[in-house]
This record gives sequence, C-alpha cells and structure tokens, in this order.
Amino acid sequence: MCLLKLEGVSKTFGKGTGMVTALDGINLSIDKGSFTTIIGRSGSGKSTLLNIAGGLLSPEKGHVILDDIDLYARKEKELARIRRKKVGIVFQAFNLIPEFTVLENICLPSYLDQNKPNMKFIDDILEMIEMGDNKNKYPFELSGGEQQRAALARALSTKPDLLLADEPTGNLDIKSGEQVLDAIHYCYRLFNQTTLLVTHNLEIAGQSNRVITLQDGKIVSDSIGEII
Ligand SMILES: Nc1ncnc2c1ncn2[C@@H]1O[C@H](COP(=O)(O)OP(=O)(O)O)[C@@H](O)[C@H]1O
Ligand SMILES: [Mg+2]
Repeated sequence: MCLLKLEGVSKTFGKGTGMVTALDGINLSIDKGSFTTIIGRSGSGKSTLLNIAGGLLSPEKGHVILDDIDLYARKEKELARIRRKKVGIVFQAFNLIPEFTVLENICLPSYLDQNKPNMKFIDDILEMIEMGDNKNKYPFELSGGEQQRAALARALSTKPDLLLADEPTGNLDIKSGEQVLDAIHYCYRLFNQTTLLVTHNLEIAGQSNRVITLQDGKIVSDSIGEII
C-alpha cells in the first residue's frame, strides 16, 4: 500500500541567473512499511526532497500525497497539525531544546497537540535504543550519538506514519553513527516503521530494501533489493 506519493514535484531557489533547480519533476511512491535510502552528491536535492515530503517546504509544482491527504492543498495550520501527527523527522543537527531534559524534549510533540504523551511507548523506545538511563539528562550532558538517539525517540514518540531522517549520522563519529543507524533499523523492524533515510554512506544504503539516487534534482536510479 502506498503511504507517500510525490507527483511531478519541482522546486527552485533564487531568481534569474542565480536560480537553482533543487528538484525537477520528481515522481515517487513510498510503500507503507518500506525502508528507503536516498543517496546522491551534496546539492543533488536530497534535503529538499525530504523537507517537501515531510510537509516542511512547499513545492512550486506538483503534489505530495501522504496517507491520501494532498498536503499542500491544506492551510498552513492544518498542514502543521497533519505533519505533527503523521511525520517524525530526525535532522543532522539533532535540534533538541537545550533547556529541556531528554524526556521533556520527547514529550514536546505530544504537548504541542494537547495530547498526553504515551509514556509506556516512550519508555519502551528509550529502553530499546539504550537511552533509558539518560531520560532525565539535559542535551549538554549527552554525547552526540546519545543526543541523536534522543531526537529519534522524539521523532517516534507520536507513532508517526512516516519517519524521515536527513543524514542523521552526518555530525557523528563512525561508532556513534552506527548506533544511531542500528536504532533506526531496529525501530523499522519492530514497528514496521516506514522510513526514508538520506545518507552519504553506501554501506548503509546497501542495507535498505530500496535505494534511490538523486542527481541534479532528478531520480537517476531506483533499485529495490533485499529486505534488511
Ligand atoms: N534555502 C535555500 N536557498 C537557496 N538555495 C537552496 C536552498 N536549499 C537548497 N538550495 C539549493 O538547492 C540545491 C539542492 O539542495 P539540497 O536539497 O540541500 O541538496 P542535498 O541535501 O542533496 O545536499 C542545492 O544547489 C542548494 O544549494
Ligand atoms: Mg542535505
């Protein structure tokens, strides 16, 4: 079953001679329960694609259909609500709030929607990704890898339909990066969490069941392989 569909999605930045085509007529369907990796050189449009897919950036042309909802046909407030409910995002820069503990950071998406956080589920995730002992710590007390795992727990805390991760290991050393990716894979296997991961790491890409290569804002290869 298709969870996410991009239909003829294009995006440019800038004007006149400085104009850059970040995405050029992207058509893409992502199945529920799939794990897809997006690779491509720096500047090929990976982050733009993820941001548009996640409801954070409107395309100039085309449609983004998430769970049968045409995202950018909705008003901004409604779009923000849909995004919080359906999409979890992990960025390269962690983006944790420094004044909040790990647990407070994780509960924030629920509070923003006036929902009670699902503490049992959150505790389970923290245990699974070996962060149970860190939940009352502040981000500055954690290593980069731990901060990113906290960001992963935050992204998953509302049981999103779609997890997006944009170079989540980009700021980490190899070992911490592997732990974060293991945690993402683990959550994928356990919850059948639909995941779209951007990475430069070809080894990681090889562990996905689908690898999409972007070049100059276009999909230049799309291969479906073994299930991880
Ligand atoms: N906010 C922006 N303003 C201007 N240009 C941008 C912006 N975001 C992305 N771009 C340009 O769009 C192209 C694609 O960028 P991006 O999606 O960030 O690529 P990637 O994530 O693959 O490195 C690049 O040429 C980049 O410079
Ligand atoms: Mg990027």
